[in-house]
Parts: sequence; structure tokens; C-alpha cells
Amino acid sequence: MTQPFIIAIDGPAASGKGTLSRKLAARFDLPHLDTGLTYRAVAHALLESGKPLDDEDVAVDAAKSIDLGKLDRNVLAVHTIGEAASKVAIMPYVRVTLVEQQKAFANTLPGAVLDGRDIGTVVCPDAQVKLYVTASPQERARRRWLEIQERGNLSGIEAEYETILTDIKKRDERDMGRADSPLKPAEDAHLLDTSQMDIETAFAKALSIVKQAQLA
Ligand code: DC
Repeated sequence: MTQPFIIAIDGPAASGKGTLSRKLAARFDLPHLDTGLTYRAVAHALLESGKPLDDEDVAVDAAKSIDLGKLDRNVLAVHTIGEAASKVAIMPYVRVTLVEQQKAFANTLPGAVLDGRDIGTVVCPDAQVKLYVTASPQERARRRWLEIQERGNLSGIEAEYETILTDIKKRDERDMGRADSPLKPAEDAHLLDTSQMDIETAFAKALSIVKQAQLA
């Protein structure tokens, strides 16, 4: 193998892209990077050190010092960090700094699975396979709600379905409406609408798309 094999997965919050990415990475024995965690890690570093969330120079310094090998999903998944991450994610120089690290991760042999909002369009425009995973806002809110119920609501997160739906719609607007690297399918992305699919069906579809790309 002389060229890294890169699978780029984009999609809105709670579309199931994270689960699909992890399953594809395991199936193809590739490292996986959830790029949302990189934005979350920057936000976390700022919050932990009591620094402001609206100073781009300070955020860029934090972005330069994150370690992609030490991103802890358990710590970074909390709602407040997600909210703070969406503020740093609109800063162009924070994006440039993180995208550079994400590109290096993707382009190291044997390649990788990356998921996020701008993987197929900005981070890995030459990826061998691009998937755009989506589902209706109602279905995504239902899945998030179930997930919170299953966790026993230990984190004290508001688990009202309507609140989650409103939140998801707001995040879609922010992700799709921002000027720099908005969420949108790459022209050559395969669209996978999982609204009517369980995870096994979605995985089978994704797998057949990746296998086809391998043959091409
Ligand atoms: O997917 P997530 O909730 O972990 O993402 C956290 C924030 O980072 C969210 O506001 C979207 C943003 N993000 C981004 O701008 N680009 C990416 N490639 C991944 C996430």
C-alpha cells in the first residue's frame, strides 16, 4: 500500500455518523478521528484555564497544543463543552490550525476514517470514499433522547424531547449557516439518509459503498 486509504464522513449532529465511523474503522482496521472532539478539546482547554471563548489568538494557542492521541470522549462529550466548541469552531484560524493536524492524521499510512462537518469538502477533498450521513431532525432528536434515557440521565441533561429537537435544529442552522466551512455534502459524496434505518442496515449500506470504492 503506497497511498493512504481515507474514508471521509460528514453529517449533522446525532445523524449516526459517529457510530458508523467507528464501525467502519474497526472493519477496515483503520485509525479513527472524530474531528468534533478536536474543537471540543480546544473549548475544554479554554474553559479549564478560565480563558475567554471569544479571543481567537488565545484559542489558536490552545488549538496548537492539543494532542490528537489524548482526546477523551467521556470528558469532552458534555453539553456545555459542545456549546463552547461551536463558538471556537467559527474562528477561521482555529479551523486552519486544527485542519492541518487532521490532514496529517488522515494522510499517514494506512489512512484513516475521519468524521465531522467539513471532511469531504475541506480536510480530505481527495478521500477515496465520502459519505454524507443524515436523518430527519425528528429522528435525530428521538435517538438522542433514547441515548440519554439509556444513560439513566446521570449527567442531569435536560431530556425533554422538544428541548432536544429545538437544540438540534439550532445546531443545524449554526453548522450549515456559518461562513467558513459550512456543513454540506461534497459534490462527490454518497448520501446516506438513515431516518428509516437501524444502525445495522445503515452500516451494511456504508460498507457496500466503501467496498465499491475500494474496487474502483
Ligand atoms: O460533532 P460535535 O458535536 O462533537 O462537534 C462540536 C462542534 O465542532 C460543533 O459546533 C461542530 C464543530 N465541528 C466543526 O465545525 N467541524 C468539524 N469537522 C467537526 C465539528
